[in-house]
Amino acid sequence: MNSDQLIEEAINIMDNAYAPYSKFKVGAALLTKSGKVYTGCNIENAAYPVSCCAERVAIFKAISEGETKFQELAVAADSSRPVPPCGSCRQVMSEFFSKTMYIHLTNLNKETKSFTMEELLPFSFDIDDLLGN
Ligand code: THU
Repeated sequence: MNSDQLIEEAINIMDNAYAPYSKFKVGAALLTKSGKVYTGCNIENAAYPVSCCAERVAIFKAISEGETKFQELAVAADSSRPVPPCGSCRQVMSEFFSKTMYIHLTNLNKETKSFTMEELLPFSFDIDDLLGN
């Protein structure tokens, strides 16, 4: 599975998004070090804040299946620029991704920007801050 294929998976899973309120469908595909792919789409709710972004759905699916080692993430939306992940998703990513892991952001024109975790969320609050390390 290369980056282009992972991006394709993120675009394909956009079809499953449940986004009747925003009408903004997002797809995510998370590749594990062992080569498995966990996909996610955004799932909205009539009580708006209960909605969950595509990235977090993919990450939570993988974590709940016992995965801990991740290779790459791709995120796709029908956006004018490569879709930027929200702040909450960046914080969740930083909990589970290494600082050097790549996150590929794209749109339906396949305009893609790739960032490392550190670039996407520098100086992030993490477990070492909690433990006083
Ligand atoms: N959304 C995502 O799923 N991921 C992003 O990176 C940006 C925003 C969703 C949340 C909501 O369902 C819709 O897009 C509009 O904000």
